[in-house]
Amino acid sequence: MELPAPLRAAVDRTLEGVPLADLQRATRRLTERYRAETRDGTMHLDDELAMRAYLAARLPATYAAVRSAMQVVAAACPDFSPRALIDFGAGPGTALFAAADCWPGLGRAALVEASPAARHIGQALTREAPLPPAEWVAADITAATAVPQPAADLATLCYVLDELPPAALPGLAGRLWQATGGVLLIVEPGTPGGWRRIGDLRAALLSLGAYVVAPCPHALPCPVVPPDWCHFSRRVARSRMHRLAKSGDVPWEDEKFSYLAVSRTPPPAREARILAPPRTAKGHVTLKLCTPEGKLAQRTVSKRDGESYRAARRLDWGDSL
Ligand SMILES: C[S@@+](CC[C@H](N)C(=O)[O-])C[C@H]1O[C@@H](n2cnc3c(N)ncnc32)[C@H](O)[C@@H]1O
Repeated sequence: MELPAPLRAAVDRTLEGVPLADLQRATRRLTERYRAETRDGTMHLDDELAMRAYLAARLPATYAAVRSAMQVVAAACPDFSPRALIDFGAGPGTALFAAADCWPGLGRAALVEASPAARHIGQALTREAPLPPAEWVAADITAATAVPQPAADLATLCYVLDELPPAALPGLAGRLWQATGGVLLIVEPGTPGGWRRIGDLRAALLSLGAYVVAPCPHALPCPVVPPDWCHFSRRVARSRMHRLAKSGDVPWEDEKFSYLAVSRTPPPAREARILAPPRTAKGHVTLKLCTPEGKLAQRTVSKRDGESYRAARRLDWGDSL
C-alpha cells in the first residue's frame, strides 16, 4: 500500500527543514519505546521532534493497518456509510485520513488527543489535506470527561492501548462504547501483547452488548491459543524520507497488526476469516481459518475443486471465505 498523494504531500511539507540527523535520532528513540511496549502512562509523542519522527517512520505503517481494517469493515457492512468520526488518541490524524479515504461521505470529525505536540503537528498536517472539518479535543481518554458528544457513527482507537497503563482499560471500554453510534474500530500492533489487549477490550465490549464485525466471525471465546496470536499484515511502501529516517535501504516494510471492529447492529453475514498466509503447493491451497462456530480449522482446496480452487488462489491472509 502507498500513502494517498495528499497525505504523502502533507507529511513531506511538515518535515521540510528538519535536520536528518535529528530525525534519525528521534526515530531510534521512538522505535525503542514502541518495541519495549512500556505502558507506564508516559506519552511517547511528547515533543514536536518525536511527532515528526512518527510522521516519517510510523505513520505510513499505522495508516496502512488502519486503512486495511477499515476496508474489511466496509466489505462486511456495505450499507455502513459514516458521516461523523470520533478518534481517540488521534496522533497526527491517521484515522481521519484513512476514514475519509474509505468512506468519502464522512462529513466531520472529533480528534481526541492529550499531547499538545501531537495536536499541534496533527492540526498542521490535517490542514494541508482535503479532509472533512475536524475539531481537535484536548483530553485524556482515560478520564471520564473525554467523550465528545454526541456519539459518532464511527469511533476509532488506533495504536493507543499500548501507551495506556493496564488499569485504564476497564473504564475505557465503556467510554468508547458511549462514543460509538455505529461501528467502533480498535487497531493495535500485531504483537502477542497487542492481541491480548484487544482480547480484553473485546470481552468488555461484548458484555456491553456489542456485535463483532471483524476479524472474528463469531462472538465466542477466541480459539487462538498462545504462543500463537491473531494478527494480520500489510506491506507498506517506504518513501525516501521514510528510508532515511529509519536508516534502512529496503523500499517496503510489513506492518503486523491486530484489530477488532464491533457494531451496535449485527453484521449482515458471518464468514470464516483466513488467519495466516495461504500455503500454496502444486495443485492445492491450504487455508488456516477461524470459523463462525468459533473454532480453528484447516481447509485444503485442490485443483479438482475447479472454481473454488481458482477463487482460493486469489485469497490472502485476512480475507474472509
Ligand atoms: C502511537 S500514537 C497513535 C496515533 C494514531 N492513532 C495513529 O494510529 O497513527 C498514540 C497516540 O495516543 C495519544 N495518547 C496516549 N495516551 C493518551 C491519553 N491518555 N489520552 C489521549 N491521548 C493519548 C498519544 O499522545 C499519541 O498521539
